[in-house]
Amino acid sequence: MYLTLVIVAAILLLLTVLFVRFMSASHDTFKKMGIDTPPTSWILGNFGQAIKYGVFEVQKVYYNQYKDKKVYGWYDSRRPNLIIRDLDMVKDIFVKNFNSFVDRHTLFDVDLPFRDNLLNLRGDHWKHVRSIVSPTFSSGRIKKMSTHIERNSKILVDHLHSKMESGEEVELRDICSCFTLDVIASTGFGLEINTLKDPNNEFATQAKKVLNPNPFLFTLLLFIPELTKFFSKLNIPILPQKSLLYFAKVVDLAIEERKRDGLNGKINDFLDLVINAEVDNTDKDGGHSGKELTRSEIHAQAIVLIFAGYDTVATVLSFTLFLLAMHPDCCQKVQAEIDEKCGEEFPNYDSVQGLTFLDMCINEAMRLFPPGIFINRACVQDTEIHGVHIPKGMVVLIPVYAFHTDPEIFPEPEKFDPERFTPDNKSSRHPFAHLPFGQGPRNCIGMRLALVELKIAIAAILGKLTPVPCSKSVYPVKLGKIRTNAKDGLWVKFQLRNRV
Ligand code: HEM
Repeated sequence: MYLTLVIVAAILLLLTVLFVRFMSASHDTFKKMGIDTPPTSWILGNFGQAIKYGVFEVQKVYYNQYKDKKVYGWYDSRRPNLIIRDLDMVKDIFVKNFNSFVDRHTLFDVDLPFRDNLLNLRGDHWKHVRSIVSPTFSSGRIKKMSTHIERNSKILVDHLHSKMESGEEVELRDICSCFTLDVIASTGFGLEINTLKDPNNEFATQAKKVLNPNPFLFTLLLFIPELTKFFSKLNIPILPQKSLLYFAKVVDLAIEERKRDGLNGKINDFLDLVINAEVDNTDKDGGHSGKELTRSEIHAQAIVLIFAGYDTVATVLSFTLFLLAMHPDCCQKVQAEIDEKCGEEFPNYDSVQGLTFLDMCINEAMRLFPPGIFINRACVQDTEIHGVHIPKGMVVLIPVYAFHTDPEIFPEPEKFDPERFTPDNKSSRHPFAHLPFGQGPRNCIGMRLALVELKIAIAAILGKLTPVPCSKSVYPVKLGKIRTNAKDGLWVKFQLRNRV
């Protein structure tokens, strides 16, 4: 009995030692490179600091602590990340040395039908798909897609109008999420849904499942990404596979319907373009011969619109409206501009192009509350930038939020001041200091579509209504610890405008 206990204790001790060694095996990486890091614990790496401060504050804390450094190190549990706090280095990573930083680091590989999506693709495969999908976001294409945005904006304005009539206070984030989901459904999948009226429609239900994957698996992978292969062998998908297959099926049905009814190119949505670029399925080897996509690449690009273009736009739309409600002087200025540029007409692609002050307000909202707090790149070959050697395989992190709130770049960073984005003020600071959409060849492909969507929706709302503070408004906003959302919600109420 005693011997058994000793053996069990010895095995447990051995396993603990092996586990500690496994978790901390890479924790000397930055020491060897002569790069500083915050205090590191053997199992959490630097996660402990992120848990303590939250993802926003922790960026500022160490960005300020390593003020005199170009870079500092950070361990996401086991994985070393190099944080770049020098804007010239950021520029070279995004642009000059792009070939060394062509890939994005992803937490895990995903299976079909989402496997070949732009966010996750690497190297030449990414280049191929990006070059085919890019024309979808040309001015001409966005102009055609904007009819869907206008239709959904009318529904949004009517909804807010009815809230105004009943005197209800409104939480902007939820309402804006319904709107942006409807826009994705129509511009990406050719579906007309009305999530404001019917929040439990099938598309919305499946999208919410996809965006809220199993939190237990997710946390586990955050600590031990190697488990991805293990889950994959056991056939345990990390993302909800049934929901992803639902979206693939929606795409297949839309494609078959359009081919059957001769509607190709007539719906003015994302599928219109990618269908024409589809590789002939009779080509059984499925290889690429040029400007074409396979069906699985089409599925993945449609689904990525939900991942990349839904919550991001809802975040910016809701924060911009909220900030305008809290700053009536700016709101009036935007409204005067809308009256002048859009007149009595419902705002459209052409008329919103002239809304320069609104553009400044949106940029300022994205400075204060960027949906992408960090941007990452994976180094694919040993590279030296500004005297810093970056080895192949190293993940580099660009601390977007810390740049946006650095008082040396943006004085009084907590203040909402759209004037920071006048052409003169913009040209007086580093061009890579404001990074809501990333930069370089791998920046946000949906940037222009997002800006048109934001401007049409805001111009449509502010043309008729004025958002004002209400009993539940909490300002300044307190950010959550993990993502760009307001702890107390974004509450306002709406008043009818008296247009003269
Ligand atoms: C205000 C709204 C949005 C914000 C703030 C935003 C932000 C970003 C950021 C920060 C990135 C990473 C860029 C980089 O790594 O340099 C990104 C990538 C991406 N975004 Fe957006 N995004 C927005 C809206 C959209 C929309 C509407 C779509 C699609 C319709 C979209 C599609 C994508 C895709 C596909 C990528 C990956 C591009 C690639 O790797 O080639 N985004 N976005």
